[in-house]
Amino acid sequence: MTIQEQNAIPIPQVEARVPVPAQNLRVPGPTTVPEQIQAAQAAPMINHRGPEFSAIAKRVTARLQYFYQTESLVMTYPASGTGGQECAIVNLFSPGDHVVSITIGSFGDRLAKIAVAYGLQVTRIEFPWGQAADPAAVEARLSELAPYRGVLITHNETSTGVTNDIRTLATLVRNLSPDALIVVDAVSSLSCIPLDMDSWDLDVVFTGSQKGWMSPPGIMMIAASPRAWEANKTARLPRFYFDWEMTRKMLAAKWQHPSTPAVSIFYALDVALDMMLEEGREAIFERHAQAGSYVRERAKGMGLQLLADHPNASNTVTAIKTPDGIDTKALLKQLREQDHVVFAGGQGPLEGKIFRVGHLGYFTLSELEQAMDALEKRLREAGFQG
Ligand SMILES: Cc1ncc(COP(=O)(O)O)c(C=O)c1O
Repeated sequence: MTIQEQNAIPIPQVEARVPVPAQNLRVPGPTTVPEQIQAAQAAPMINHRGPEFSAIAKRVTARLQYFYQTESLVMTYPASGTGGQECAIVNLFSPGDHVVSITIGSFGDRLAKIAVAYGLQVTRIEFPWGQAADPAAVEARLSELAPYRGVLITHNETSTGVTNDIRTLATLVRNLSPDALIVVDAVSSLSCIPLDMDSWDLDVVFTGSQKGWMSPPGIMMIAASPRAWEANKTARLPRFYFDWEMTRKMLAAKWQHPSTPAVSIFYALDVALDMMLEEGREAIFERHAQAGSYVRERAKGMGLQLLADHPNASNTVTAIKTPDGIDTKALLKQLREQDHVVFAGGQGPLEGKIFRVGHLGYFTLSELEQAMDALEKRLREAGFQG
């Protein structure tokens, strides 16, 4: 009897691998990865405990600090954005700590849920989906809620296409509660929309390689202020994989990580950072501002309504309301299959009601034009007049 015959579980029959056609990937991450970066990622594997990897880690870290505008160490983990959310919570707090979560959509909710899952006492300050956090309302509510150990805020709420005014919110938190830890989810904003970690006095900021960094998913980046490092010393929530101190020690000693890093994504990010520095930080912000304004104006010009038609509309993702009589799922399917344009649907209560256009990381204006042209054509064919 062969090994195969002895085996109770047969070899599975799987669907044949089919090549994915070239797509205009307009979801808010993962984003298009330019050819130079794809090529870099295909480089042969190296030893993550060797000098070649250490050189990459050192180069990447220094340039991440520049994009964060921080003197603090920017740590990386093989994880997605949700890993960043969990990493922030477990390194800062102890069971029963009171934290305030300012939520304006699905990802703010997720951060609050993680805090609840870890046994924190969470008070939410919620705003309707599509709106930004109103600083005056936040200030009034925070005054009632003191004392609290931390405040959790989303910089750019990807589910609704809204950017919070983090600078103003952080300033008011700092004035009200100077020791509170300000945790900022910058997953879909950092490097695309201005954020200055040190001068805005933010305590923890995290993001992910698949968003504004022109790289594939796989690396989560997170930085902690001196205040946050101090809090880390006494934070008692259980942690191992995401433990900051373990990571800091290994990076400080030899530019290595406690567990195996996503080496190929480091290759990609290393080259992406070259390209980003060549373009310039402010020029990248400007490209995103122009993209945001182009997509919003094109959508409105077609007679569509935006979920966020106000100054806090995001420059990395635009949420468009599906017109009456149009089936969102069918529209997105048609665009994907026939035009090779891929938009994202709505999440939670917005499912079927909106769709989202991503314009972050690597893109050209002509890709945005092609996506919006295809959208307009399909909507007109479906009878939408605007
Ligand atoms: C603002 C924000 N936070 C958190 C996440 C979660 O990231 P991931 O899906 O990479 O785990 C996302 C993902 O889109 C996001 O946009």
